[in-house]
Amino acid sequence: MDKFEQAFQNKLDNEEKIEPKDWMPEKYRKTLIRQISQHAHSEIVGMLPEGNWITRAPSMRRKIGLLAKVQDEAGHGLYLYSAAETLGIDRAELFDQLHSGIAKYSSIFNYPTISWSDIGAIGWLVDGAAIMNQVMLTRASYGPYARAMVRICKEESFHQRQGYEMMVSLANGTEEQKEMAQDSLNRWWWPSLMMFGPSNAESTHSAQSMAWKIKRKSNDDLRQQFVDVTVPQAEYLGLKIPDDKLKWNEERGHYDFGEINWDEFWEVVKGNGPCNKERLETRVKAHENGAWVREAAMAYSEKLNTAVNHK
Ligand code: 3HC
Repeated sequence: MDKFEQAFQNKLDNEEKIEPKDWMPEKYRKTLIRQISQHAHSEIVGMLPEGNWITRAPSMRRKIGLLAKVQDEAGHGLYLYSAAETLGIDRAELFDQLHSGIAKYSSIFNYPTISWSDIGAIGWLVDGAAIMNQVMLTRASYGPYARAMVRICKEESFHQRQGYEMMVSLANGTEEQKEMAQDSLNRWWWPSLMMFGPSNAESTHSAQSMAWKIKRKSNDDLRQQFVDVTVPQAEYLGLKIPDDKLKWNEERGHYDFGEINWDEFWEVVKGNGPCNKERLETRVKAHENGAWVREAAMAYSEKLNTAVNHK
C-alpha cells in the first residue's frame, strides 16, 4: 500500500470523511459517481409519477403538500448532482447518461400512479424505504454525499409523514376510499421492497461499498428493517399487506416475508417496466424544452462576468 492508499485507508479506519480534494482510489471515485448520479436521477424522475397528480389533488391542502414534496425532490436531485460534480464529472454528462438510457434510476419510478391514493402510498412506502437507505447514507465515507443526505432526510421524513397521513384519511374514509388505499398498497408494496436492490448474494457492489464505508448496511438488512417498521403501520391502517408468507418470527425478532419477484425487478431495471419508456421520453422532452433557460442563464452569467472583469 503506497502512502496515498495508506492515508485513504487511515481516514476510513478513523471514521474521517473523504473530501473532494483528498486522494482517493479511482474505483472509489467511479462508484461514487455511479451511485450518487443514479440517486440524483431517481429524485428527478421520481417527480414525474407524483407530478401527474398535482392538477388533480382532491383539495387545496393536498395540492400544496404535493407541490411542496415534488419541489423538494427537485432540490434533492440538484443537491446530489452537485455532490457528484465534486468528483470531477460534468452535470451535462450525467444528464446525457440518463437521457441515453446508460444511467439507471430507481426501479420504483417506473410504475404508474393510477389513483390519488398512490400518492399517499408513495409517500408512506417509497419515501419510507428511501429514508431507511438515506439515513444509513448520512454516515457514508464521502463527505459531500453524507452531508447532502442530512438535509434530504429531514425533508424525506416530512414526505413519509404526509403520505401516511393521506393513507390514514383514506383508510378511515368511505368504503370506496379504503378500497382505493388497499389497492395502492397491493400495487406498491413489492416494488417498494425492490428499491433496496438485489439480494446480498446478487449484489455486485455491496462488498466493496461496505469496505469503503459508502454502504453501512446490506440491501437485505435495510429491506428487513423497512418491513419490520412498516407492517405495524399497515395494521394500524387496517390494510392487508399483499404477502401470505408475512409472519412475525419471534425467534428471529423480525417478520418473515415472501420471495421477491426478481425477474420483474431485473426486467424493470433493464428498461422493460410499465413506464420506463414514458419516463425517459418525458425527461428528454423537458430537458430539450428547457434548453433556452439554460442558454439564457449562461448568457446572463457571461455578461455579468464581463461587467465584473471590466470594472
Ligand atoms: N433500481 C434500479 N437499479 C438498481 C436498483 C433499483 N432499485 N437496485 C440496484 N440497482 C442496480 C445498481 O445500480 C447496480 O447497477 P449498476 O452497476 O449499473 O449501477 C446493480 O443494480 C447491482 O445492485 P447493487 O446492490 O450491487 O448496487 P448498489 O451497491 O449501488 O446498491 C442501491 C443499490 C441500494 C440502490 C444503492 O445504489 C443506493 O443506496 N443508492 C442510493 C439511494 C437511492 O438511489 N435510492 C433510490 C431512491 S431515491 C428516492 O426514492 C427519492 C425519494 O425522495 C422518493
